Amino acid sequence: MNGTYGIHTVNPFCVRAVAEHRMLHGAFVEVRKMLDVVKGPSEATQPAINAAVARIGILREAIAEHFRREEEGGYLEEAVGRNPALAVAADGLQQEHAKLLAMADELLDHATREGPAAETWKRLVDDLDRFEKFLKRHEGAEDALLQQAFNEDLGT
Ligand SMILES: [Fe+2]
Ligand SMILES: [Fe+2]
Repeated sequence: MNGTYGIHTVNPFCVRAVAEHRMLHGAFVEVRKMLDVVKGPSEATQPAINAAVARIGILREAIAEHFRREEEGGYLEEAVGRNPALAVAADGLQQEHAKLLAMADELLDHATREGPAAETWKRLVDDLDRFEKFLKRHEGAEDALLQQAFNEDLGT
C-alpha cells in the first residue's frame, strides 16, 4: 500500500539519491568501456588521452551536480532529522564531497600535463581506479545511512 497508510512508503529522498547513485555507476561503466579500447599504456595516444579527459570531465561535472543536490536537497539533513544518531556519519560523508572533487581535479590535472602518452595513460587509469573505489565506498555508505534513517529496503 505505497503512500496510503505510510506502510512501506518509498521515501522520495531515498529514491532520488539511490537512482542518482545508479546513474553515476552507469556513467562509470561507460567511461571504462571507452578506456578499455586502449589495451594498455603502450597503445595510448594523445587523442585517446584527450578523449578520456573530456569524458572524465563530463563525469566530474555530473558528480559535482549530484553532490550539490545531496547538499541542497538535504537528503542527509533529512536523514539526521529522522535519526539524530546519524549526524556524525552524515557530516563525514558531506565532507567527503570536497575530497572526491579535489581527487577528480587532480586526476584531470595530471592527465593534461605534458609528458609521454604511455606514462600519462598509466597514471590516468591508476588515478581513476582509486577515485572510483573512493566514490563507490562513499555512495555505498550513503545508501546505508539513508536506509538506516528511513528504515527502508532500497534494493541496493
Ligand atoms: Fe554524497
Ligand atoms: Fe551520493
